[in-house]
Amino acid sequence: MCGYPARTYGRIVIDAQGLTKHYGRTAAVDEVSFRVGPGRVTGFLGPNGSGKSTTMRLILGLDTPTRGTVTVGGLRFRDLARSLHVVGAVLDAGDVLAGRTAAAHLAMLAAGNGIRRQRVDEVLGVVGLADVSGRRVGGFSLGMRQRLGIAAALLGDPGVLILDEPMNGLDTEGIRWIRRLLRSMADEGRTVLLSSHLMSEMELVADHLLVIGAGRLLADEPIGEFVSRRGESVVRVRGERLNVLSAVLGARADIHGEIGVVRGVSAREIGRLALEHAIVLEELTPVQASVEDVFTELVAAHQQYRHQHWENA
Ligand SMILES: Nc1ncnc2c1ncn2[C@@H]1O[C@H](COP(=O)(O)OP(=O)(O)OP(=O)(O)O)[C@@H](O)[C@H]1O
Ligand SMILES: [Mg+2]
Repeated sequence: MCGYPARTYGRIVIDAQGLTKHYGRTAAVDEVSFRVGPGRVTGFLGPNGSGKSTTMRLILGLDTPTRGTVTVGGLRFRDLARSLHVVGAVLDAGDVLAGRTAAAHLAMLAAGNGIRRQRVDEVLGVVGLADVSGRRVGGFSLGMRQRLGIAAALLGDPGVLILDEPMNGLDTEGIRWIRRLLRSMADEGRTVLLSSHLMSEMELVADHLLVIGAGRLLADEPIGEFVSRRGESVVRVRGERLNVLSAVLGARADIHGEIGVVRGVSAREIGRLALEHAIVLEELTPVQASVEDVFTELVAAHQQYRHQHWENA
C-alpha cells in the first residue's frame, strides 16, 4: 500500500530496559522492560492512568526517564537522523491548527522534513481524506482528525508506527478501517505499537500484548497465550440432576435448574464427575475466556497484591 515499491522496513525493534518515570511521588512508569518487534501489531493495554501515554512519550523523547533507557532501532529517539522516516506517531489527534486545511497542514510538515509534496496526496488517499483535503481542519469530526493524525505519521513512510488510543471516538467503520490499516502495516514488516484501554478492540487487532497496571508491566506475550494461560477455565453445562454436580463442586458451580456454569474445573474433569455420579449431560462447552476477562483478573490481582504489600509495610 502507500503506492511505494515493496521494501523492507528495517525490522526495527523498540527496546525498553528498566524504564522508569516519576512525577513527584507518583511512579507513572516503574521498571518496565520490553521489546516491541517488527511484523506484528503489539497492543499496549492498561486501565486509565496506568502509564501508557507516559511510556510512549518516553519512547519518542518527549519526556526524559528518571531511570532506565529506551531505544528505537538501537538509538535513543533524539539520536535518530530523519526521525519522521523512522517513527510515525500520533499521541494527540487534536494537535492541529484549526484554520488550516488538511492538505496545507500535511504540506507544511512535508516541507519541513524534506518530503516531496506528492507524498501528501498519497497519504491523504491512504487514510481516506482525499475528498476533504481542501477543508479546514477546524470543521473535522474526531474521526477525521484521527485519520489526519495518522496521515501525518505516515508521511515519512516510517518503519515504526506508534499510536496512542487511535480508536478513541471512532465509529464501527472507523475502527474496522484502522484495524485493516494496522494489519497491513504490520504485514509489510513495520513495527506497530498501539495503546488502548478497550480490551475488546485489542482482541481483534493485536498479535502480541503488553499489559501495564499502575506503571508495572504485568504481561508480555502473544495474545493467544495471554487468553489461554491466564484465563480461568469456564465451562457451560446443561443436563439433568445438575444439583448433584453442584453439591460435588460447591462454589465452583453456578447452577440454575438444568443449566449452569462451572469455573476453574476442566470440561474433561466435569465429564468424569458426571459419569461417576450418573448425571446425563446434554451440553459441556468450554467457554474461551476473553481478553477482557483475563485482563480484569490480572489487574485486580496486582492491585490486591499492592494493597497487601502496603498494608504490611
Ligand atoms: N506531566 C505529568 N505530570 C504529573 N503526573 C503525570 C504527568 N503525566 C502523567 N502523569 C501521571 O502518571 C500516571 C500515568 O499517566 P498516563 O497518562 O501515562 O496514563 P495512561 O495509561 O496513558 O492513561 P489513560 O488511559 O487515561 O490515557 C498517572 O497517575 C498520571 O496522573
Ligand atoms: Mg493515555
